Amino acid sequence: MGRLKITVVGAGNVGGSIAQRLAEKDCYTVVLVDVVEGLPQGKALDLAQAGPVCGYDSTIIGTNGYDDTVGSAVVVITSGIARKPGMSRSELLDTNTKIVRSVVQEIAQRSPSAILVIVANPLDAMTYVAYRVSGFPKQRVVGMAGVLDSARFCTFIAKELNVSVTSVEAMVLGGHGDAMVPLIRYTTVSGKPVEERIPKPKLDAIVKRTREGGAEIVNLLKSSSAYYAPAASAVQMVEAMLKDGKKVLPCAALCEGEYGYQGVFVGVPVRLGNKGIEEIIEYDLSQEEKAALDTSAAGVKELCEEVDRLLEG
Ligand code: NAI
Ligand code: 2OP
Repeated sequence: MGRLKITVVGAGNVGGSIAQRLAEKDCYTVVLVDVVEGLPQGKALDLAQAGPVCGYDSTIIGTNGYDDTVGSAVVVITSGIARKPGMSRSELLDTNTKIVRSVVQEIAQRSPSAILVIVANPLDAMTYVAYRVSGFPKQRVVGMAGVLDSARFCTFIAKELNVSVTSVEAMVLGGHGDAMVPLIRYTTVSGKPVEERIPKPKLDAIVKRTREGGAEIVNLLKSSSAYYAPAASAVQMVEAMLKDGKKVLPCAALCEGEYGYQGVFVGVPVRLGNKGIEEIIEYDLSQEEKAALDTSAAGVKELCEEVDRLLEG
């Protein structure tokens, strides 16, 4: 058996960075797809030429078509427009629904057993588009957001306490929007509750900064949104599944009864294995946490209703 194939659709900032991280693992064939002629081919060639320096032999194929994607184990979908300063993620809905729909149609025909990892925004709604259009079982359609949002939360906490990021454990649930829900009660620093280490006003400021973490970077970069941490987060999910590591990560998953939601994609803790989402893990939430998650899920539901209108219209 050859190396497992991972397709990355969208060879822009996030897609290119994902391809680089995957190539450096030296154990996959990476196919990079984009509509822009020359872009995926150029990035693939550039990444191949980094191989002798970094010591990897990964095959990286850049293409504007889908023939090379046949038989992919995982397909990461980053194709779509990104935010500019002042834009919300939901303003991307119309354009990205069309892009994600067309990409998923191509992928589903050629890799019917693949796991789809969605990155395009608005994240939870685009994961729903991929689920509807692919017809894949819910276990094989998963969205990346919670890993990134939790990483941002951990980064700010570690900086505040001057401890290693590896000492902080945290989960951010809910949709990938300003109403996301950092779970403070479950956030620990080497096992100690973060509330015992950081005073409430400071912690509230960290929660706010986490919720606005994407916009903070858009406002700095101006012409693009974040991509290093998003790419690292998507790759962590891909590897958790391909290595069948059973890692528990916050991901956008279809809830059918879990947390009281019916038919909603929202960020929840999931166990990832080689079949995709193996289990949605239910945490006991306080009234306040549940109310915050309900608000976030309601926002996602509205966007998914808009998706339904777009897909049926
Ligand atoms: P980018 O603009 O750098 O790259 C997007 C690429 O998609 C472009 O190269 C474009 O040509 C390509 N593309 C457009 N239509 C296509 C199609 N039909 N088929 C194939 N490729 C197509 O944008 P970037 O920064 O890479 O972001 C990509 C998406 O990911 C955006 O929607 C962004 O908002 C989202 N994002 C989501 C994150 C999350 O946490 N879920 C984090 C960061 C970005
Ligand atoms: C982020 O949170 C743009 O959704 C992306 O950085």
